[in-house]
Amino acid sequence: MGPPPRSPKVIYLLPFIAIILLYLRWFTPQLPITQNNTELKLAYATLLLPDTSSDPSRSTDIYFLSTRILNYQLLHDPRTRTTRAIPFLVLVTPDIPPWKCEHLKREGATIVRVGKLDVDWIQPGHERWRDVMIKLRLFELLSYDRILFLDADTFLFKPLDGVFADPAAQIQQTLQQASIEPDEGPLPASYVFGTSSEVTTASHSYPPVPMGYFNAGFFVMSPSLQLFSYYLSLFNHTTRFDTTYPEQNLLNYAHREDRNMPWGRLNFSWNINLPLPRDVEMGVASVHAKLWTKGNELKPVEQELQDIWRVKREEMEIWTGFGSGRM
Ligand SMILES: *[C@@H]1O[C@H](CO)[C@@H](O)[C@H](O)[C@H]1NC(C)=O
Ligand SMILES: *[C@@H]1O[C@H](CO)[C@@H](O)[C@H](O)[C@H]1NC(C)=O
Repeated sequence: MGPPPRSPKVIYLLPFIAIILLYLRWFTPQLPITQNNTELKLAYATLLLPDTSSDPSRSTDIYFLSTRILNYQLLHDPRTRTTRAIPFLVLVTPDIPPWKCEHLKREGATIVRVGKLDVDWIQPGHERWRDVMIKLRLFELLSYDRILFLDADTFLFKPLDGVFADPAAQIQQTLQQASIEPDEGPLPASYVFGTSSEVTTASHSYPPVPMGYFNAGFFVMSPSLQLFSYYLSLFNHTTRFDTTYPEQNLLNYAHREDRNMPWGRLNFSWNINLPLPRDVEMGVASVHAKLWTKGNELKPVEQELQDIWRVKREEMEIWTGFGSGRM
């Protein structure tokens, strides 16, 4: 007894069914994957600063190279790329040469031109603030709902799309648990600021011991002009925080855990500073380190990680070579 012969009626219907299916495919808006924050506009972002090496040329700007590797890993490398078409924004200041912007654009990055925070109330001796503080301009990018900022010396081992679903990447209501300094700007009613605990020694455990201090090389935020003005208002009170790492310490001050806008703790597995090969074996998704160097005695970069970086660099360059014709 084989299968029952197919009814001829069904055969006549098949072309109509196909047409209906095609119609639905073409004329129905693509529904977002059912995850509660997919309708939000998401982005990855980094900041590319001018090359300060003594002989700036096409080959000396290691941060430019590092940004290109990050772009490759976030957008193109099948092992780590976004599967939700999340764009990668590269914030550039007017002193970044146009060829660098063009190059990054050809490789898929979204160039966002930003001005320096050129305000005369930055006190003398704080010139380099103008550069690092540009990071705060992320808070002005109102066309995005959530941005994961990564320092240009971040290297991926796993995709990062899931970070936007982390509880610490969601909206927090501003608390009223502490008094407000009258000479600081007003706080927004709610905010998003999720990041990871700092790791201070290369001989750390994994997961690292949670600290009250975070590294500003990896954080999820939501643009907000009110938050931006609040941060700017802190520039007038530079005695309230240590200015060795101005933007990191300003953000740590603004988001102190016992105040009204405490920082949220992202799952430790998203990113680690001062990485060891063991952190990678244990599954960390990304690391923050200058993997193109040996580091120094306090912050060594193990050979194994340097090698992984070098191989990825070659892979990216081969990809670019093949890709440049069609981009
Ligand atoms: C900082 O102080 C100066 C002088 O008192 C004032 O003009 C400026 O508006 C203040 N800036 C902010 C962002 O509060
Ligand atoms: C953090 O992420 C790791 C790896 O994905 C997971 O095993 C762990 O349960 C997470 N921790 C929390 C508190 O969600």
